[in-house]
Amino acid sequence: MTDINNILSLDEHKRAKTKNNMGYAHSIPSRASRAFYEHSKLTQGLFADIGAAYGFDSIKAAEYGANVLVIDKEPLHLEIFKRNLSPEIKSKIQTLNLTFPEEVNLKKNAFDGILLSRVLLFLNPPLLDLALNKVFSFLKPGGKAFIMSISPFTAGWEVIRDVYIEQKQQGQKWPGYITNIWDLLPKTKNTLPNAIQFLDEEHLQKGLKEAGFIIEESGYEPQYSSHSTKQVYAIAVKP
Ligand SMILES: C[S@@+](CC[C@H](N)C(=O)[O-])C[C@H]1O[C@@H](n2cnc3c(N)ncnc32)[C@H](O)[C@@H]1O
Repeated sequence: MTDINNILSLDEHKRAKTKNNMGYAHSIPSRASRAFYEHSKLTQGLFADIGAAYGFDSIKAAEYGANVLVIDKEPLHLEIFKRNLSPEIKSKIQTLNLTFPEEVNLKKNAFDGILLSRVLLFLNPPLLDLALNKVFSFLKPGGKAFIMSISPFTAGWEVIRDVYIEQKQQGQKWPGYITNIWDLLPKTKNTLPNAIQFLDEEHLQKGLKEAGFIIEESGYEPQYSSHSTKQVYAIAVKP
């Protein structure tokens, strides 16, 4: 069995910091990741994990029988990921060092499932639309998108919520695009880029429906139990 955890140092929340200051890779699965594993087990088909970092979710999906395309813009993450894979898992994995969505052009109508876990926050509104449209085109009919990202509803982050509310009242399509979070939340300077797209359930649902998806499930969940960070997630199917 592959154990990538022993080559990465995990903190008390079982997360590993990214090498490019793009947040943390989490080894404890969210609802979206768990649904991604379940669909891998059910179909044993073709999957993609976009913004995979060290591939925690990709390994699980491959262990359940999926073939997984592991995509990340940071080559070092993919190198670390590949270092310790068992031959059995290696045969089910392919990596691509590309920036999503601009450089990612996969086979159309080919994928059973695509995971976007903690990656949409790094896009801006026009790229979000392009991302959802591309994911829709890559999926087979019946294929599913598994999405999880950060919402503006975290206790202590009222300053973010205020900007989001203002943008929502202005009728922006993707309220929550904030280009100066280092000023608003100085602690994030060591862990995140200065521009972050926060997402709410309502607008994530709307964007997915506009791209052609049917929403199977959506909601909010804490980042880890007893933590105040609220993540938004959606599982959406291509009809
Ligand atoms: C916060 S980590 C999430 C890792 C993992 N998916 C998880 O949920 O734990 C974000 C990852 O997305 C990658 N990333 C950020 N923007 C990206 C983009 N536009 N295209 C591809 N990868 C991207 C980063 O390099 C990083 O590895």
